Amino acid sequence: MKTDKSNILALLRNSADFVSGQQICEKLGVSRTAVWKVINQLKEEGYQIESVSRRGYRLSASPDILSSSEIASRLTTKWAGQKLYYFDETGSTNIDAKKCAEEGAPHGTTVIANMQTAGRGRRGRMWQSPPGSAIYMTIMLKPDFAPDKASMLTLVMALSVADAIAETTGLQAGIKWPNDVVVNAKKVCGILTEMNVESDYIQHVVIGVGINTNNGSPEEFPEEIRQTATSLKIESGAHISRAALIERVLFHFEKNYDMFVSTLDLSGLMEAYDKRLLNLDAEVRVLDPKGEYSGIARGINSSGELLVEKDNGDIVQVYAGEVSVRGVYGYV
Ligand code: BTN
Repeated sequence: MKTDKSNILALLRNSADFVSGQQICEKLGVSRTAVWKVINQLKEEGYQIESVSRRGYRLSASPDILSSSEIASRLTTKWAGQKLYYFDETGSTNIDAKKCAEEGAPHGTTVIANMQTAGRGRRGRMWQSPPGSAIYMTIMLKPDFAPDKASMLTLVMALSVADAIAETTGLQAGIKWPNDVVVNAKKVCGILTEMNVESDYIQHVVIGVGINTNNGSPEEFPEEIRQTATSLKIESGAHISRAALIERVLFHFEKNYDMFVSTLDLSGLMEAYDKRLLNLDAEVRVLDPKGEYSGIARGINSSGELLVEKDNGDIVQVYAGEVSVRGVYGYV
């Protein structure tokens, strides 16, 4: 949600030079007192704002905090994250987002937290969610299509997160089909999509994204995932602004989702997805409960199934819900 605070912050962030109090009042239709109050609040939160008489205000540094205003002031989207809830601590942003949906929140409502006490992973696992270093966010959608299309949304989000990471950090972000985002053969992001369906009609879908952002060392991860997990800071050596990365995720997701909805399949996104697909043209092992087999991954089809070419040349369409796929050399 745009507030006076996020609007003033956006105006300052987008101006290289000083902005006068008068200009702020005129552009945003707020009073002088409101500007003064917001500037003081921002300073208290750690924003470095120079105030020079007759010239106005200039933002010289922003603290790395997550707050509604910090995120909202960066947003350039039309609907993704335009309604935004931020919590210092919550159980699970997926649960919060479902609650928002039931209470009538609009399509694109996004919930973000600094820590989760009951973070949920796929297959009923926990998602450890300590404060301060990672991103925990969920976007809620109220789509107008059949429930069987919804599984593709996870791939749409994986592509969006990978694009956002690459753009923000310069790291090579790949996708381990269907939806883990991977840097240097280790997982940096997990995605959990949950949907509420009534009489064959989607009430809402929530897509939860956990990104290991500024975790400083592998020891910060639980023992059981230490070999396969990493963070953007570990891989890039640089501290990443979580708010800046969240903005990019929402930006890319909105664009990719609108593309998906225009055909109701992944035909417009397949090429970009396959470019990020780590196993493309490499050997994979398909862990099908009906019988494991190996083959060469040839990319996804427009439904998001992985095409695996067997030794005899047959192409199998692997559906994510049924099987997992492993690279023959380990996690990726
Ligand atoms: C996975 O197991 O790979 C998926 C992990 C998804 C974690 C995110 S963190 C934000 C959102 N809230 C949750 O409780 N889970 C998802």
